[in-house]
Amino acid sequence: MLGSISGRSVLDVGCGNGGKLAELVGEGATAALGVDVSGNFLSAPPPGMEFIRGDLNDLDSMPELSGRTFDRILFLQSLGYARDPVRTLRAARAMLADNGFILLTRTQPVRYAVERAEQNGTSLGEEYFSQASYTYRTGWNEQIALTKPTYTMSDLINVFSAAGLWIETADEPQLSEAARRRYPHKQAWMNKYLGILIFKLRPHHGRGDLSRSCHSG
Ligand SMILES: C[S@@+](CC[C@H](N)C(=O)[O-])C[C@H]1O[C@@H](n2cnc3c(N)ncnc32)[C@H](O)[C@@H]1O
Repeated sequence: MLGSISGRSVLDVGCGNGGKLAELVGEGATAALGVDVSGNFLSAPPPGMEFIRGDLNDLDSMPELSGRTFDRILFLQSLGYARDPVRTLRAARAMLADNGFILLTRTQPVRYAVERAEQNGTSLGEEYFSQASYTYRTGWNEQIALTKPTYTMSDLINVFSAAGLWIETADEPQLSEAARRRYPHKQAWMNKYLGILIFKLRPHHGRGDLSRSCHSG
C-alpha cells in the first residue's frame, strides 16, 4: 500500500527505534524523519535520516516540524497513544505534500473484543460494543499492565472523517502461504484474533484547499 518509496520524504510518527524507517531509506526514501516519545533510536541511522524525541500529541507545535511537508506520513500501531486522535491526524494532514498520503495501522477492534470475551466469559457483541476501558498484562513484560480505551470500526472511521481524511484503501493483511506453513502458531493466532487493519488516507479537499489549487493553476 505504500507503493514505491524512492525519492519520497517520510515522517514516521511513533517510529519506535526507527528500524522500519531505516528499511525505507534503504529502498530510496529521502528526508526521513522519525518521531517517538521513547527516544530509544538506532545508534547509527543511515544518511538522510533523523530522529526527534517528541510526543505525537504535540505534532502541531513541534518546532522541528514547523513548515515541513512529507510525501508519506506513517502511523504504524501508534495512533492509539493519541489523547485526541482527531487533533493528531489533523496536524499530520497539514504536513502532507501535494499528492501525499497517510498510511496508518491499528489493531482490529474485534481482536480485543474476542480477548475480553474469553477473559470475562461474555459474548463478542457485548465486548465489542462495551465502552469500558480494557486492561491487560503485556506478553513482553509481566510487570506492565496496559489500559486501552475500546473502539469500534465506526469509531475509527469517524476519527478519519473528523480529521478531514478519506479512506482510499483499507486492507486486512494475511500471512502468505509460505509464512503460514513456516509459522503455524502465527496462523492459529490470526485465525482467532484477525490481526491489524491498514488504511491509506488522503486529505479531503475542502473549500480552502480548492481555492488554493485554483490560484496555483
Ligand atoms: C506498538 S509500538 C510501534 C512502533 C513502530 N511504529 C513499529 O511499527 O514497529 C508504539 C510506539 O509508539 C510510541 N509512543 C507511545 N506514545 C507516544 C507518544 N505520546 N508520542 C510519540 N510516540 C509514542 C512508543 O514509544 C512505541 O515506540
